[in-house]
Amino acid sequence: MSDFPLSAGGARRPLSGPRRALTAGALGVLGVVTALAATLPANAAASTLGAAAAQSGRYFGTAIAAGHLNDSTYVATWDREFNSVTAENEMKWGPIEPSRNSFNWSQADQIVNHAVGQGMKVRGHTLVWHAQLPSWINSGMSASDLRSAMTNHITQVMNHYKGKVFAWDVVNEAFNDGGAVGTLRDSIFTQKLGNGFIEEAFRAARAADPNVKLCYNDYNIDDANANKTRGVYNMVKDFKARGVPIDCVGLQSHFGNPPSNYQQNIAQFAALGVDVQITELDVGGSGSTQADAYRRVTQACMAVSRCTGITVWGITDKYSWRSGDTPLLFDGNYNKKQAYNSVLDALNAATPNTSPSPSATPTRSPSASPSASPSASPTRSPLPGGCSATIKTINSWGGGFQSEVTVQAGSSAVNGWTVKWTWPGGQSISSLWNGRQSVSGSSVTVTNESYNGSIAAGGSTTFGFTANGTAATPTATCTSP
Ligand code: G3I
Repeated sequence: MSDFPLSAGGARRPLSGPRRALTAGALGVLGVVTALAATLPANAAASTLGAAAAQSGRYFGTAIAAGHLNDSTYVATWDREFNSVTAENEMKWGPIEPSRNSFNWSQADQIVNHAVGQGMKVRGHTLVWHAQLPSWINSGMSASDLRSAMTNHITQVMNHYKGKVFAWDVVNEAFNDGGAVGTLRDSIFTQKLGNGFIEEAFRAARAADPNVKLCYNDYNIDDANANKTRGVYNMVKDFKARGVPIDCVGLQSHFGNPPSNYQQNIAQFAALGVDVQITELDVGGSGSTQADAYRRVTQACMAVSRCTGITVWGITDKYSWRSGDTPLLFDGNYNKKQAYNSVLDALNAATPNTSPSPSATPTRSPSASPSASPSASPTRSPLPGGCSATIKTINSWGGGFQSEVTVQAGSSAVNGWTVKWTWPGGQSISSLWNGRQSVSGSSVTVTNESYNGSIAAGGSTTFGFTANGTAATPTATCTSP
C-alpha cells in the first residue's frame, strides 16, 4: 500500500494566528494593511448558522426532504438558518431515473429551485451509489450496458443541474467497512466494472461539467488512522498523481463523538490538494455532551482552510433518519438545542478563510502552484456612509487565478452593496461565491447576498471568485443604497 502520513506529516497547524499574521504581512507590503487586518477579528457575532459560517467564507447547510416542504416551520427554519442544501434522497439514482433514461426531476427541482431562490448553495447527492438504485439496474446487465447507463446518468443529471449545484458526490460509500486497506464494497459496480468504476465515474463527471466540484463521499472515514480512511486517502492521492479529476472529499460524520484525530484527518486530506466538506453531520446524544461533540467538529473544520463547509443531515430530530438518537441541532419542536449554540459560537469564532474554493479547479488545483506574492488592487478610502472595495489575488496558476474582494463600510453601517470593476485583459469569472454577479463585456457588477449585505460601520465582509486569464487586481468601486 502506498504511504500514508498519519501523525507524521499530514496535519496542518490551526491557521488562525499564523495565517492572520501572514495575511497582514502581505497586505502591509501593499500598503493596505489597515483595511483588512484591522477588521479580521472585528466581525460582529452572527445570529444564524449560515451567516456565521459565511463570515469565514464557508457555508452551513442541511439535508432537506421534499416530503416535508409542506411543514412551514421546517421551511422557515431552513431559510433562516442555512445557506446550503443537500437533497436527502431526491437526487439519488432510483428516485431521479426510475426508468432508464426517463428522469423524474420534480422533487429534486423543488428543493433546488427553492434553494437557488434563497441564494443558497446546493450540494448534489449522489450520482453513483450501491443503494437506492432503480430496479432496472440489475445483475442481468452486461458491463458495457452498465457503463453506458452510468455515464448517461451522470451526464444527464449533471447537465440538468449545471450552474445550480456547486459540488457533486460523484461516488458514495464505495469502500468496505473493516477489512484490508483499500478494499471496495461488493456491488453491482465492482462486479461488472471492477474497482475502476470510481475513476470512470469521476472522468465522466468532469466531462459533463468542468466547473463543479467533484467529491468522493463516505462514512466511517473520520478517524485519521482507520483502514477505511487509509483506503480513501490512498485513492485520492493516486487520483491526484495520475490526473484523475477529484476536487473534494466528503466526511459524512454520522457518529456519537468525533475521533480525537478528526482535525488531523481533515488536514491530511486537505494536504493532498482537495477540499474537505463535512457532508452529513449528525451526532447522537443530548445536552452538553452532544454540544461539546458538535463544537469539536465545527472547530476542526474551521481550523483547516480547505474545509469549506458543513452540512447537517436534517434540521429537526423529528425527521432524522436516526431520530431515536436525537442527533440534530433542533429538537422535535424546532427549539434550538445546546448543540446549536455551541456550533454557532464555534462558527462565529472562526477567522476568515483565505482559500475557500466552492467551484471546480479549472485544470489543476490552485494550491498546487500558488503565485509567488499575492497582489491587491489600490485601496479606496471609504466615503462617509459609503463603502470601499479592494480586490486581492489569493492564488494563481496557468490560465487562472483566485481572488478575494473585501467590502468595507465607511463611518456608517451599510445595508446592501454593489461592487463594480472592469477587467483589463479579457479575464472572465468562472465561479463566484458570497455575492451575485452580472457581467457585461469586460464590466463586472457584484451585489451582496441576502446574508452579507449588512455591514456595521467600519466593518467588512468578503466575497471571492475564480477566474480565467492572467491574474489582475483592477480598481473596484463600491456603492451602497
Ligand atoms: O419515499 C418512500 C415511500 O414512498 C415509501 O412508502 C416508504 C416505505 O418504506 O419508503 C420511502 O422511501 C424511503 C426514503 O428514505 C424516503 O423517506 C426509503 O424507504 C428509505 O430507505 C430512505 O432512507 C434514506 C436512506 O438514506 C436510504 O439509504 C434516508 O431517508 C436518508 O437519510 C439516508 O441518507 C443516507 C445518505 O444518502 C448516505 N449516507 C448515509 C445516510 C444515512 O443512511
